[in-house]
Amino acid sequence: PRPITAPEFRAAKARGAKLAVVTAYDYTSARLCDEAGVDCILVGDSVGMVVQGHPTSLPVTLDEMIYHTKCVMRGARRALVVADLPFMTYQVSPRQAVRNAGRLMKEAGAHAVKLEGGVRARDAIRACVDAGIPVMGHVGLTPQSVHQMGGFKVQRDTEQLLADALAVEAAGAFSVVVEGVPADLGAKITGTVGIPTVGIGAGAGCDGQVLVFHDMMGLYPDFKPKFAKRYADLGAAIKAATEQYCREVREGAFPAAEHTFR
Ligand code: KIV
Ligand code: NA
Repeated sequence: PRPITAPEFRAAKARGAKLAVVTAYDYTSARLCDEAGVDCILVGDSVGMVVQGHPTSLPVTLDEMIYHTKCVMRGARRALVVADLPFMTYQVSPRQAVRNAGRLMKEAGAHAVKLEGGVRARDAIRACVDAGIPVMGHVGLTPQSVHQMGGFKVQRDTEQLLADALAVEAAGAFSVVVEGVPADLGAKITGTVGIPTVGIGAGAGCDGQVLVFHDMMGLYPDFKPKFAKRYADLGAAIKAATEQYCREVREGAFPAAEHTFR
């Protein structure tokens, strides 16, 4: 199947087509999600929490994002692959943003990058777009600002959020993630901007939805946000399978004849 491009992703809004986005951080999960038909795979800096085990995404480095994006690129055939710029790799200056976004594109092969912030990120977004790099914005609850926000909290400042989403669009982004806002505000932002909104905890009115792979598969027990629908309980399945394996090894039931060379 032909890969989906950033302009096609953007054009989906005009057709009223809903966009299905999921995160992935490795070849195996990327391949499964791609074959299942997602429109876009986000290599999120949520890797810092669900893969690395940190309490926030702040410690994630650009080199780690490059590594994970390379793995995902080998598993993605059709999906648009968007890689997150981690904390402090684009906030210093637009030049820094372009240089680091360029590494995700050139070294890792990402199709686009994502960065957090609305009005305050517009120069960074514009600089990347001017360099030929498609940018997905991210407004509302922006996890890299968790300490400034005083926690992972629903964002309710309508004026600010509309200004942020409009600034992201005006800076040239092809899409924008809207995270952790009341449903009516998610719908209002979606009706205000011309680019597709991809919601997470932003209600059904957005143009698309994104979920963190480990949340949707029941693999991240540390905390379960209200918006994270669990589509599978792989955590329980993995635990049960591993318990059975331990039992069978200890009882001598594994390996059996069919797993043994003669
Ligand atoms: O890092 C991430 O997984 C994200 C999505 C939740 C939008 O930014
Ligand atoms: Na992220």
